[in-house]
Amino acid sequence: FSDPGFSADVIAWQKRHGRHALPWQNTRNAYRVWLSEIMLQQTQVATVIPYYQRFLDRFPTVEALAAAPQEEVMALWSGLGYYSRARNLHRCAQQVVSQYGGRFPGDPALLAELPGIGRSTAAAIAAFSYGTRAAILDGNVKRVFARVFGIEGVVTSKPVEDQMWLRAVALLPEEGIEAYTQGLMDLGATICTRSKPACERCPLAARCVARATGRTNALPARAPK
Ligand code: ADE
Repeated sequence: FSDPGFSADVIAWQKRHGRHALPWQNTRNAYRVWLSEIMLQQTQVATVIPYYQRFLDRFPTVEALAAAPQEEVMALWSGLGYYSRARNLHRCAQQVVSQYGGRFPGDPALLAELPGIGRSTAAAIAAFSYGTRAAILDGNVKRVFARVFGIEGVVTSKPVEDQMWLRAVALLPEEGIEAYTQGLMDLGATICTRSKPACERCPLAARCVARATGRTNALPARAPK
């Protein structure tokens, strides 16, 4: 599954055309990166931005968040939805303070043991905060992979997920993990969209199986009802 051209194309595109001024970019503060990644799990960038800023104003450090009353965390989260994220956020802050002295670990395997942090979020936090070479695989990246590699199975099925994780790891660049990770996210969010993807602007169009076979609209396959 390895292919050095894939990551090189993603990185070059991200540098020229990706997003560079989101409030949680251009920082290696793991607390800020973690907060943004949790908020972005099920919520779009434009919705997250004001919440992210209010949280940081009120809780500038993981210690401040850990020490806050649960009601205050929930009140500040109110409107973002998926409230288990807010409860896990608070518990995670408390564990980072009690177990790690307030410093998020750089090892994705340790991050993934914390509340609310799955494998993909752990990898994003480690990559953006510490430059750790780790693979993400969220819904957007699954859509990119399904199309580029012409993967016909339902992307939430275990065998397809397993195959995609193997690809995600094999495709990692030797250098430039931050630009690569952000580039995959940006491609999925802005180019390889669910409907009406902008293939003419996609750096992966030349290698895209779905584009070559006219399957762009059919992939990723919808789960059977
Ligand atoms: N979605 C998940 N993580 C993101 C990030 N770091 N930037 C933009 N969108 C995202």
